[in-house]
Amino acid sequence: MAQITLGMWSTHGPILNTTPEEWMLRVINDKRIRHWFRNKEYSFEELAELRKHENFIEQFTLEERTRRHALCQAGVAGLARLWKEAKPDVAVIMGNDQRELIQPSMQPMFTVYHGADFWQAPMDETRAAKLPIGIKESEWAYRPDKPVVWPGLPDLAELVFSMAEQENFDFAASNAWPDTGDHHHVGTPHAFSWVIRRIMEDAAIPILPIITNTFFPPNQPTARRCFEMGKFIGKVIKAWDRDVRVAVIGSGGMSHFTIDEKFDVAFLQALEDRNSDFLCSIQQTTLMQGTSEMRNWIAAAGALFDTSLTGSTLDYVPCYRSEAGTGTAQGFVCWR
Ligand SMILES: [Fe+2]
Repeated sequence: MAQITLGMWSTHGPILNTTPEEWMLRVINDKRIRHWFRNKEYSFEELAELRKHENFIEQFTLEERTRRHALCQAGVAGLARLWKEAKPDVAVIMGNDQRELIQPSMQPMFTVYHGADFWQAPMDETRAAKLPIGIKESEWAYRPDKPVVWPGLPDLAELVFSMAEQENFDFAASNAWPDTGDHHHVGTPHAFSWVIRRIMEDAAIPILPIITNTFFPPNQPTARRCFEMGKFIGKVIKAWDRDVRVAVIGSGGMSHFTIDEKFDVAFLQALEDRNSDFLCSIQQTTLMQGTSEMRNWIAAAGALFDTSLTGSTLDYVPCYRSEAGTGTAQGFVCWR
């Protein structure tokens, strides 16, 4: 029977794929948008005033950014090394779409990919020209130089659909990525392609992508629903009549674009303690903007808490870029 032999949680954002100098390119956007922080929404100026006692300015000097950048690269390299050592046969990745595939006209809460394979390609020039500043610099980590096809896991997907009937889960099904979206991205969602490019280092094994709508109102699942979904997927893996080693990966987060170290540290502790009550009680208004991707971590925890795997946090690195405490917090966790 299939066995879960590896668990990983990792962030996947542009900060991991850009230079400390390039980190600052996104500040222009931070100043333009409103930010969620501890269940309330603020303008950039309001946030800077609220958090001025936290002295962020000292935490994003070029020297400090360079130091934190090196820690992030060490975290990614650590996961890639552990991946190579563990040699899993197949992977289930809990990730999200950020309008690479799914448009507001049809936006399921949970989608299981059941095609034989899925594609990724370099970005064409028209789309690349539309990429926001600070994003196009990081595209190399999500897209290879040439079009590629990565293997799916249709037989595990079929088992998910058939077992879901009895377990009260209703998944949307996708068997091909469309290339018609009007978003600047298209192809394999970044949450999945980053893992293939930077943890698997392009040596993709068969993957079951499970896409959660983490970002977009009005139908983001609750933390509890994500946990239960992951727990169900863990059950399906155990019932899968194949002699394979399975990796389960949660991709996304941590707190951004307002960094909340208190939340992130409590979350990492909850993983270590297998504290499902903590994970399931995280409020919808905490899981906003980029922090919403912690739903992928919660889903992976749902599957991994029911295994005998253990491990620890390789590193946690809050990568600030402004006096309002904006940026992205990076985290790397592995269970073996
Ligand atoms: Fe993301």
